[in-house]
Order: sequence, then structure tokens, then C-alpha cells
Amino acid sequence: MIRLTVILCQINLNNFKEMKKEELLAKLWEQYTKITPSAEKIHALLGAQGQTISNDHIAIRTYNDARVNISVLEKLFIKAGYEPCGEYVFESKKLFAKHYQHTIDKNAPKIFISELELEKCSVQLQNIVKTILDECDQDLFLNPELVLNGNVWGTPSYAIYELLREESEYAAWMYVYGFRANHFTVNVNDLVDFKTLESLNDFLEKNGWNLNASGGKIKGTPEQLLEQSSTLGDIQEIEFLEGTHKIPTCYYEFALRHVDASGEFYQGFIAASADKIFESTDVKLAK
Ligand code: NI
Repeated sequence: MIRLTVILCQINLNNFKEMKKEELLAKLWEQYTKITPSAEKIHALLGAQGQTISNDHIAIRTYNDARVNISVLEKLFIKAGYEPCGEYVFESKKLFAKHYQHTIDKNAPKIFISELELEKCSVQLQNIVKTILDECDQDLFLNPELVLNGNVWGTPSYAIYELLREESEYAAWMYVYGFRANHFTVNVNDLVDFKTLESLNDFLEKNGWNLNASGGKIKGTPEQLLEQSSTLGDIQEIEFLEGTHKIPTCYYEFALRHVDASGEFYQGFIAASADKIFESTDVKLAK
């Protein structure tokens, strides 16, 4: 059973030191694999096959409330050497997103931060999220390392989780898990023995992993310069105020990039594909 409430240290902004990229990424991985054991197992499985595993991108979710929106969460990454490179709109899921690339280390994973556009959601959803944020110690949102702090509003209510989920699976996921990596992504281009995403998907399925089939197992085409697939979110027992429930946590993603007209590997994202990948944490797809 996983307790998501965290004990937060006293924050002293004066003592805040810039976190190095490596340390930041390692902390995000540690936090992510704690509730996504499948990612560590698949990582080990590929490693045992002699594959080089590099990380294509890390995705982070939030609400667009000014206290916790993209502009707040991006700061730690910008201090670690990242810069904004692309913007994306997901109409049906009411999301806006930006992606970041490291200015010096071209092999560093890209960072993809999305936010739920609350003003486009129902008044009920807006009120729930506002209340959740209002009831927190507001200093928590000033912590430069907020993105590593998970759920800062305490043990979630299953009734509220269900209520949010009816309207937005994304809002419900965020309510339970808070600030953390939603997924890491294997860079398939760096895998020696898997030249296509199909071959990697087949290998994973033969080893017993379930893939997200929403919109087909492979999202995107070589012509779109990016093909992606992902596992379904791990199912873990989570502590709620009303007792424990088994629900999806996070998933592992796989990305194969293609070269564009200039001969460079495409570094952006395809909104239509990401739209389907978001559904990997949807309990409706869980097996
Ligand atoms: Ni992704």
C-alpha cells in the first residue's frame, strides 16, 4: 500500500542551491519508480538484453492555477539549464503544454510539462481544485523544488477522486499523485537491437507487459517524425481517507524519432499522439 502524503522539510529559500540537472533527474526517477515498479523492471529487462537505455523525455502534470502552473514548475528546469522549445494544445482534454530542451547537453531528456486549463472545466471541478489548493500551507507553493514534492495536500478522498475522474482523468490523477514525473520515456533510437517500435512492442508483450492500445499501440507515424507507445499505468493500492483502493499510478513510454528534412532528428511532440498517451493512466483501460 502506498501512502502519498509526504513530510515536508522546513523550507528555507535563502539556502536554496541550484539543483544540478543530474541530481534533479535522478530524484524524479527515484520518486517515479517508487510508484511505478514496472518501469524499473522494463529498464532492467532491456538492460539485461545489452541495450543502452537513454531517456527521451520526462512528463509532468499540473493545474493552471497561478500558484502551481507551468510557469512555476518550469523554474527548476530553467535553472538546471533547460529552455522552452515548443507549445502544444490539447482541445478535448483541456490541456496546454510546453516542452523544454537542455541548452548544452543535447542528450539530456526533454521535459514536457502540461497543465489543465481550469477555466475550461466545470464550475464544480474549478471549485474542488481551488479548495484543495486554498487549504494547503501557501508557502509550499514557493518551494523551488515543488515539482519533486508529490501530493502536498495530504491523503486524498476517494469520493473526490471519483468526482474529478468523471470529468477529467487528468485532474483526478493530479489530485492523487501531485507534483512528480508522470512518465519517463525510453529513447528507442538508442536501443541497439530494436530498430522499429513494433519489434520493441512485441518483445514487451511477449514478456507479459500490457500496452496502451487507445488509438492503436503505436501513436504517430514515420511521416510525423515521432512514433510512441506506452505501457498501461501500474495498478497500486493507494491510501484514501475512505480506505485503500487499487488505481493506476504511472506508465513507461517508448519513443522512436525520425529525421526531418534538414537531416536532424525531430525533437518536438505530436499533439494527437500525446492526447492518446495521456490515457495510459485511465482506470478504464486498466487490465
Ligand atoms: Ni510522453
